Amino acid sequence: MLPNTVQQSIVCQTSRLILRKFNESDLDSLLGFRGDPEVMHFSVTGPETREDIQTKYLPSCLRRYFRDGLGQWAVVRKSDGLCIGECGICAQDVDGEREFEISYRMRRDCWGNGLATEAARGCCDYGFNKAGLRRLISIIEFQNAASIRVAEKMGMTLEKRASFHGIHVLIYSVVNAVTGTA
Ligand SMILES: CC(C)(COP(=O)(O)OP(=O)(O)OC[C@H]1O[C@@H](n2cnc3c(N)ncnc32)[C@H](O)[C@@H]1OP(=O)(O)O)[C@@H](O)C(=O)NCCC(=O)NCCS
Repeated sequence: MLPNTVQQSIVCQTSRLILRKFNESDLDSLLGFRGDPEVMHFSVTGPETREDIQTKYLPSCLRRYFRDGLGQWAVVRKSDGLCIGECGICAQDVDGEREFEISYRMRRDCWGNGLATEAARGCCDYGFNKAGLRRLISIIEFQNAASIRVAEKMGMTLEKRASFHGIHVLIYSVVNAVTGTA
């Protein structure tokens, strides 16, 4: 049985994972992937320090939860209760349109086990069936082959190229089969 505070922060679950909101006790786990230069190679910020995470990143996650009811969530492995990454849905401005992006980032020692795909599929299901979103996108740099593969495995296809924070990126997308139109 999970403690009440954890139960209340759970967003969704998959067979191996729980996705829940971040809180202050996740600082060390966040540093385990957001502090790793290889994991952060394709991120706008680059590797972050504990202070960056405490003063900027975590507060920005909490603001998104409050403002949008969505955001980047902790990916917790059910087998040992450890937070091994992050995955979630964030509102983004792309080409002047408000879009909802699924993004994912996992601790390096957990790569290659299908976990990012499982978390992303959980988010997709949540976005379409619980949050009522019409479409979801992923914003991916050309060279990020692993991320492209995760997008493809969750059912997205390449829609267009765009400029995002001054970087040339690929926009992958998927439309809600029940409510969406292309
Ligand atoms: C992208 C990332 C989340 C994938 O995590 P993961 O748990 O290893 O993902 P999965 O195991 O679900 O799937 C990875 C897929 O990419 C493939 N892959 C990995 N590296 C690859 C590479 N260099 N070239 C081509 N495919 C690659 C894997 O083989 C796998 O596909 P498969 O199941 O068909 O074999 C992880 O690499 C990561 O955290 N990267 C840094 C952060 C990042 O770039 N996030 C995305 C920002 S858009």
